[in-house]
Order: sequence, then structure tokens, then C-alpha cells
Amino acid sequence: MSFNVAATAYDRFMGRFSGPLSVGFADWLDVRGGSTALDVGSGPGALTEVLADRLGAASVIAVDPSEPFVAAIRVRLPEVVVFQASAEELPFGDQSFDLAVAQLVVHFMSDPQRGVGELRRVTRTGGVVAVSVWDFEGRRAPQSTFLGALLSVVPDADDEVGRAGAHRGELVSLLEKAGCRDVEETEISVTVTSATFEEWWEPYTLGVGPAGAQLVALDAERQELVRQRCLELLGTGPIGTTATAWAARGIR
Ligand SMILES: C[S@@+](CC[C@H](N)C(=O)[O-])C[C@H]1O[C@@H](n2cnc3c(N)ncnc32)[C@H](O)[C@@H]1O
Repeated sequence: MSFNVAATAYDRFMGRFSGPLSVGFADWLDVRGGSTALDVGSGPGALTEVLADRLGAASVIAVDPSEPFVAAIRVRLPEVVVFQASAEELPFGDQSFDLAVAQLVVHFMSDPQRGVGELRRVTRTGGVVAVSVWDFEGRRAPQSTFLGALLSVVPDADDEVGRAGAHRGELVSLLEKAGCRDVEETEISVTVTSATFEEWWEPYTLGVGPAGAQLVALDAERQELVRQRCLELLGTGPIGTTATAWAARGIR
């Protein structure tokens, strides 16, 4: 599993993007005190931390199937209750939360429709269900440049474009099919700057997520070809990466 990795590696690879994305997502959802929230596929806690800051840690519960991420979030946010579980089988009763969110998770679910249905099931009537996924189709994910370079070396590589939620309107469709009403979609962008090319490249060598896992599975010669292609495309730095996610919310 490409998320059976250290939380520190995740943070260097994706947490640097999902941290600022969490702030934009919580702002769009207008998260404010007095509500309870469930963070599904919390990872090491980028969005969980923002929710805990705004709602109070006792009002937030996190869920993730990755053992190292569950362990990390327990250390980072000791007052937040964390469960090791998957979206498709949430260990909560019906209508338990005011808000259920899954940031950058739908595209990893083995059954996205069932997972989104579970988010709706555990949300109270009138509560909000919200999901987000990078715009892989528009090549606006943080790793889109890398994936393009990977494809030039490995033509049958997974560029993640075919994943659930990676196209405009797909998250809306998942929420509507799950039974949510008044579903809305937006896009949220973040920009992260790497001082040098090496700082930009190094996180890919940590084997995190589908991009990193595909790189470390290559022999050294092909890894170097991918690195050289990225260097040609980006230069030596500084490198500013703007990434955009589709976000959708609906009412139960
Ligand atoms: C890209 S990370 C996003 C983590 C976090 N939400 C963030 O924004 O940083 C994807 C997360 O989804 C989790 N995940 C994968 N499959 C899942 C599933 N079926 N149900 C819930 N979480 C899942 C992974 O363990 C990982 O933590």
C-alpha cells in the first residue's frame, strides 16, 4: 500500500500541499464552532488540525486505514479521537456528525460510491458532506509535471487521470448519487515553492503515493531519466508549483 509510509515522508511529499489546501477547504465549508466533524482518510492530520483549531479537538474524529498515519496523528493531535478504518465501512452510527469530509481520499477508495454513501450515512440530516480530489484531468495536481515526465519514460505508467473524482463534475455526481441535495462544486488552488530542483525532486524518491511508488519501482537508470526530464521541464529552481483541487459539498 503506497500509504504504508512514515508520516514525515508523507508530509514532505503531499502534506506541504494538503496543509494549505485544508485551510482553503475549511474556509469554503465555513467551518465554525459548535459543530462536530469527521475527517475520513485523515492521513497524518493536515485537515484534522485545521478542523480541531476551528471546532475544538474534542469535536473532531479522524479515520484512516494506514497504521503509521493513525499512530502519527495520535502523537500530533492527542486530544482528537482516531480510528483505523476505511471510508467504505465507517465504525459510526447513522447521523453521528454535523460535517463529514474526505480531502484527497475519494480517488483511493476501493469503492468510491460506497465510501461517499458512508460519509452521508454518518452525517445528520441537514449536515454537510464534502470531498476533494486534485484535478488530474486538467494536469493541475501537484505531481502532474512528474507524472508527465514518468509517462515519457514509462508509457504505460498510471498518471492518476482515470481515478474517481479527478475530472470536473465527478465529485458532484458521487454526492448526488449518494442522496445529497443542493450539491455545489468549486476549485481550490494552492501554491508551494521549492527553493531548488533537488528540494522539489527529493520527495518523489520517498515512495509515497502512486507517483512515488512508481518511481522507486524503476531501476536506477530509468529513475535518472525521469529526474532529467523533470529538470528539463522545471529548471534548477526556485520552482513554484500551483495545484488545484476539485471540491464538492452537499447537504444530507
Ligand atoms: C493523499 S492522502 C490524504 C490525507 C489527508 N486527508 C490530507 O489531506 O493530507 C490519502 C489518504 O487516504 C487514505 N485512504 C486510502 N484509502 C482509503 C479508504 N478506502 N478509506 C479511507 N481512507 C483511505 C490513505 O491512507 C491516506 O491517508
